[in-house]
Amino acid sequence: MNEPIVKTNTKNEICTVTINRPENLNALNSELLDALAKSIEEISTANEIKIVIITGSGDKAFVAGADISEMTEMNPVQALHFSRKGQRLLGKIESMEKVCIAAVNGYALGGGFELALACDFIYASSNAQFGLPEVTLGIIPGFGGTQNLPRLIGPNRSRELIFSGKMLSAEQAEIWGIVNKVVEQDTLLAEAKNIATTMLKNGLTAIGFAKETIRSGLNMPKNEAILHESSIFGGLFSTFDQKEGMSAFLEKRKALFSNV
Ligand code: COA
Repeated sequence: MNEPIVKTNTKNEICTVTINRPENLNALNSELLDALAKSIEEISTANEIKIVIITGSGDKAFVAGADISEMTEMNPVQALHFSRKGQRLLGKIESMEKVCIAAVNGYALGGGFELALACDFIYASSNAQFGLPEVTLGIIPGFGGTQNLPRLIGPNRSRELIFSGKMLSAEQAEIWGIVNKVVEQDTLLAEAKNIATTMLKNGLTAIGFAKETIRSGLNMPKNEAILHESSIFGGLFSTFDQKEGMSAFLEKRKALFSNV
């Protein structure tokens, strides 16, 4: 039987999602985008899953971009729909309440880099390479890269990357603030699970709201964003977790969060 193109494995409240087309360096075709969107939708509502890690199958690539063999046949309208399909998927990941970590285990190019950027942060193996090589194909990034990368590293570095199509090493990507941590490939998933496990000890409702406050604030003028922050801050004082977290501190014991 054929292996699924998106594999999921949940253990200890952490779901690892593996993009599984290694023979094509996990390139994103429409079928894969649909399968990934379906998995993300299921994960979003699965109570037993609290944190998500996205990685690629094999030791060479996270995702080497959108599938060029599929794109080469597209007319402008099909290409526009393909871009919107990718953007919708990445939007689902960005707006998901659960934390989503990209564990980049090799090439993260084009749509693969854009997918990693849609996650909350990136851990990378030392052999990872990041790039937006679309202009080498006569197109531009179409899954949010022209917008999300400048918001993360500023317009000038983004222009250099996008105009040159050059790849950045994991080490350079860490220096530029794209990657939070670079580790050896055989420890990548363990390191991602390790930080996920630390997060699981905290109030997950608060983390979900922190994620949303950061995301929505980045798209608001600062004066509105800080008011939004205050209203979320105030709202969290209606939760069990706020009472438990603060009581536990004052009683010098570990908090037992219920995520409500
Ligand atoms: N779309 C479709 N197929 C892809 C692909 C993509 N984005 N990236 C890699 N593949 C396929 C290759 O065509 C090849 O298939 P084949 O064995 O049937 O010929 C297979 O994956 C292995 O890739 P290959 O190019 O042989 O590996 P490499 O180690 O020599 O080079 C890369 C690796 C990542 C540098 C190279 O594959 C590459 O440049 N890929 C395209 C990257 C890109 O432009 N992405 C943005 C798309 S918008």
